[in-house]
Amino acid sequence: MKAAFYTETGAPEVLQYGDVEDPTCGPADVVIKVSAISIEGGDLLHRRITPVDGARRIGGYQAAGTVTMVGPEVKSLRPGDSVVGFNFSCSHAELFAVPQHFAYPVPAGTDLKAMSTVPVAFGTAHQALFEYGQLRSGETLLIHGASGGVGIALVQIAKRAGARVIGTASSPEKIAALKTLGLDIGIDGRTGDIRAETLAATRGYGVDLAIDLVGGPKFSDLFAAIRPRGRLVMVGMASGVQPTLDPAAIRQSAVTVTGFIFGKVMHLPEIGQMISGLLSDVAAGELVMPVEKTFRLSEAAAAHRHVEDNRPFGKVVLIP
Ligand SMILES: NC(=O)c1ccc[n+]([C@@H]2O[C@H](COP(=O)([O-])OP(=O)(O)OC[C@H]3O[C@@H](n4cnc5c(N)ncnc54)[C@H](OP(=O)(O)O)[C@@H]3O)[C@@H](O)[C@H]2O)c1
Repeated sequence: MKAAFYTETGAPEVLQYGDVEDPTCGPADVVIKVSAISIEGGDLLHRRITPVDGARRIGGYQAAGTVTMVGPEVKSLRPGDSVVGFNFSCSHAELFAVPQHFAYPVPAGTDLKAMSTVPVAFGTAHQALFEYGQLRSGETLLIHGASGGVGIALVQIAKRAGARVIGTASSPEKIAALKTLGLDIGIDGRTGDIRAETLAATRGYGVDLAIDLVGGPKFSDLFAAIRPRGRLVMVGMASGVQPTLDPAAIRQSAVTVTGFIFGKVMHLPEIGQMISGLLSDVAAGELVMPVEKTFRLSEAAAAHRHVEDNRPFGKVVLIP
């Protein structure tokens, strides 16, 4: 099969396109003939920093398509079923093998390009808001990195849960687009003062819950925008720079700090049910994930370069 792979970490240009062996189908696996691959924030981070184990690594977490093969232990899926699959690598390929618990059936007849964007972005957002963030209706949320995949999902899910939503994005156009999805107040993530603007929007009180997707130097401003005894969920570091937590600031503010890796729970049946509900919501148009641009899989390096340089609003998708 054809795949996009790399033999060393680095810039988007480490990605090569060529022939590799087809994946094997383990007893509890399914093999998916890929129709659409969503480029995830984590795909970029892995390509940049996660050492390549073995001769090469095929990039990518997530892709949607049609099941072509199932292992003997797989009872709930058959060849011909449409699914979106997740795995810790190897979605940037014509064929994608995943354990059955990472193959989420998609509603019949839906657009596989849209479905390919759902599990990680919307599932992470849902967990961050409710399992870890304990968001309640009427509370105020601050999202650092609201215009990426997880951020766009957070804005919509938080809004429909009854929250007031503040978020950072890097341009007035992105803030305007987020407002059509439920954002109440936008802060320019490059030039804005996250702390001052958030305090001004909350009568000096601060937000109940903050979710960090960016890390980097503005993290301390984000922390200072949380009300005393508020909550912070640390989800990502799209800036590539780990945030620094000041223990004294935690003591002074009594903010509860937590974080999680969604991939560690995606195999659980209850998480599969949650993802199934989110796939249905996207299929019904109740939640949306804009796809800014599509590239051929053979152009994976250019697609990663486009995401890194242009920080598009929503997702970029690869088509084999
Ligand atoms: N913990 C978990 O389980 C989990 C799950 C999913 C994702 N993540 C992580 O969460 C982060 C966001 O994921 P995502 O899929 O939403 O990523 P994404 O689609 O690439 O979006 C990230 C957003 O961060 C903003 N940003 C601000 N400063 C940036 C910088 N210096 N470089 C790049 N982007 C910057 C960008 O928006 P603006 O241009 O508008 O600023 C960008 O759109 C990533 O670090 C990802 O690895 C973690």
